[in-house]
Amino acid sequence: MTRHFLKDDDITSKEQAEILNLALELKASPYSHRPFAGPQTVALIFDKTSTRTRVSFAVGVADLGGVPLVIDSQSSQMGGKESVADTARVLERQVAAIVWRTYAQSGLEEMAANSKVPVVNSLSDDYHPCQLLADLLTIKEHKGSLAGLKIAYIGDAANNMANSYLIACAMAGMHVALAAPNGYSADAAIVSRASSIAATTGGSVSTFTNPNDAVVDADVVTTDTWISMGQESEKQKRIDDFSGYTIDSNLMAKAKSDAIFLHCLPAYRGYEVSAEVIDGPQSVIWDEAENRLHAQKALLVWLAAHAK
Ligand code: CP
Ligand code: NVA
Repeated sequence: MTRHFLKDDDITSKEQAEILNLALELKASPYSHRPFAGPQTVALIFDKTSTRTRVSFAVGVADLGGVPLVIDSQSSQMGGKESVADTARVLERQVAAIVWRTYAQSGLEEMAANSKVPVVNSLSDDYHPCQLLADLLTIKEHKGSLAGLKIAYIGDAANNMANSYLIACAMAGMHVALAAPNGYSADAAIVSRASSIAATTGGSVSTFTNPNDAVVDADVVTTDTWISMGQESEKQKRIDDFSGYTIDSNLMAKAKSDAIFLHCLPAYRGYEVSAEVIDGPQSVIWDEAENRLHAQKALLVWLAAHAK
């Protein structure tokens, strides 16, 4: 049966580990797997802007022997003009997989429900699961393993990255601590889902309002923009509300001395993170950005194998 990857726990913890190991294999040997030889085409659809996702999926599909077809939805019939279901029915007959960056999670679910080929969420309002595969790969490379490590996320705990950190890191057996101001705390249903997963993997979930409480003894410290795509009209209010939540060297010093700093990027220096931290010795953001390529290639190889 075709497998889709619309949210972090559309795969099991065991499958997550398998994909991360495959990513390491592909990083060492980039052309060792050619599931799209033919070449077959993979559709990469963007309703929102992107640099890393666009480049890493386009390069990744080419590395896997395929042809990436980048579709800006504004220049297609999608959106108001043609339904997601009809779009899926057209695409599934011609492409080997559909990768879609969009707003509502329900759109991805509708695409997957009408597609015989794998559908991948390359960021929605609710999740960014491909980013988490890259983040876990980066942590694994720098720390050797994942289970038992503590990750602290400071900032907007109600956004797509926070949701994905909660679920994906709990799946990996990590201890996830979040700190957010009132009004931006993590969704209770996601916290509860992550806690249930953590109970089976040896991880844990804890939530705070004070960033100092979340970063204590962290192995990994991370954040994301305070203003996600689609929230631009709330910019000033958010900048005011998140005052005091910048990851600076004082906050970083409360984590373990060998802690690494991650950021999915794009970053806004002086807001969610200071320049001295993101450009400093603990930051591994360029490895993380490169790992989008290797992690997503592994995901596509794995999905192609399960689509047969
Ligand atoms: N991190 C990330 O998804 O970057 P882009 O928005 O540039 O794709
Ligand atoms: N939370 C951010 C992530 C960008 C990669 C957004 O959705 O804009």
